[in-house]
Amino acid sequence: ASLQEVGYTIRPLRRSDYKTGYLDCLRVLTTVGEPSAQAFTERYDFISSQKETYYILVICDSTSRVVGTGAVIVERKFIHNMGLVGHIEDIAVDKNQQGKKLGLRIIQALDHVAENVGCYKCILDCSEANEGFYVKCGFKRAGLEMAHYY
Ligand code: ACO
Repeated sequence: ASLQEVGYTIRPLRRSDYKTGYLDCLRVLTTVGEPSAQAFTERYDFISSQKETYYILVICDSTSRVVGTGAVIVERKFIHNMGLVGHIEDIAVDKNQQGKKLGLRIIQALDHVAENVGCYKCILDCSEANEGFYVKCGFKRAGLEMAHYY
């Protein structure tokens, strides 16, 4: 059955999603903090002003609460003939909605966006614990993440 057939909708993030549980959904992933509505709106407006760069999707349940989310950021390179690379970020599914293929649907939708805007690949960083999920989504291990925290 499709997402819609089982009562979910998938759509781009909206300015009004401060009120529909978007930030709470992200709490399964990491620390979110308690940003004000104004801070959220300012960040949303900045992201929206970056044309054809940020694609943030949400899955809502039948009560319009956000229960899943993910993003792809399109990087414009000089190499690979001005190639575009999709960076998949911030994938999260509500604890009590995990295991229902919502994560898979989010990745499929983001992959579709990336391919359609002309990316030649999509990449992401994840923990060892999530490797199996991304393998099921069609990704394979490539490279090693390095970080320098400030
Ligand atoms: N290890 C191995 N397999 C997994 C895992 C895992 N950790 N999680 C799911 N799978 C499998 C499922 O069993 C399913 O397999 P099947 O088709 O054989 O039944 C398949 O992957 C698809 O799983 P979904 O039901 O779509 O997964 P779910 O909706 O639960 O979403 C997610 C997975 C996003 C990892 C979710 O558990 C979550 O939000 N976790 C906490 C936050 C997090 O770690 N996010 C990812 C960070 S990495 C990043 O953002 C780039």
